[in-house]
Amino acid sequence: MTLEETQKAIRASAASHDAVILAHNYQRPEVQDVADFVGDSLGLSRTAADTDAQAIVFCGVHFMAETAKILAPGKTVVLPEMKAGCPMADMITAPQLVAWKERYPGLPVVTYVNSSAEVKALTDVCCTSANAPQVVRSLGVDRVLFAPDRNLAHWVSSRVPEVEIIAWPGFCPTHERITPEQVLAARAAHPDAAVMAHPECRPSVLDLADAVLSTSGMLRYAASSPAREFIVVTEEALMHGLCRAAPEKTFWTLDPPPACPNMKSTTLEKVRAAVDRLEPRVEVPEDVRRAALAAVERMIAIG
Ligand code: 13P
Ligand code: SF4
Repeated sequence: MTLEETQKAIRASAASHDAVILAHNYQRPEVQDVADFVGDSLGLSRTAADTDAQAIVFCGVHFMAETAKILAPGKTVVLPEMKAGCPMADMITAPQLVAWKERYPGLPVVTYVNSSAEVKALTDVCCTSANAPQVVRSLGVDRVLFAPDRNLAHWVSSRVPEVEIIAWPGFCPTHERITPEQVLAARAAHPDAAVMAHPECRPSVLDLADAVLSTSGMLRYAASSPAREFIVVTEEALMHGLCRAAPEKTFWTLDPPPACPNMKSTTLEKVRAAVDRLEPRVEVPEDVRRAALAAVERMIAIG
């Protein structure tokens, strides 16, 4: 089968199963192209909550599909590659969060959606890279616990200096590997380009950015900015969406291009098998789901 034939077969199978296909902005280009909706964590959560489809085939990593199941418990949620996890989400467990909270009685807990349902269930409010400063501000307190991403926490504290942020020391291995030297080399090669960086990057990298944005934030920024060229400081698959969102502009990735092996583990063939069988499915125990839902819904209400 050609690529086009496979994509057509997946679309037909999804229609016959009343399934919507969601894909994160870091998915392989051929997977993004077969999806009904491509977005960042916040946009994907909103779409999962609002869809009328009976099944959600989630091309992303486990915590994203789990968040969809938390929001849409009556729907079948399928993750084409069950081993597609997020190492940052695994850096804090529920028992670790319980022990951490005991050390800081009374402090609210803000948890990045890159976390397990069990951790979300122990959380006051979740956030994504698109809304983390607003979420922290919304609490109206002067101290919060923030898990699991220390780099996102550091960036939020620069945006919300009135709040002391106590950060869990987790990180994304893909973004942590990006160095200031890589960004400086790209800037030297493309001096007119604007630098867009994801807040999971280290502070020394973010200091070099013109704009710090979620993945979909970068798509919007590139389309609306007067700049003609952009250096893209995040996972390289976003280049596909950027070229589609602003085809008249030029985008440069880093050398070497940052790649998340977990996002890359979902192939078009696995999507095809998942849509045909509506397997493998993501499930969340009901007591955990209810507790996690409160934190996720609170986040969505904030924006
Ligand atoms: P976004 O929500 O910005 O798409 O980021 C998700 C993610 O996992 C980044 O590594
Ligand atoms: Fe997790 Fe990083 Fe991959 Fe995002 S890019 S899914 S944070 S490992």
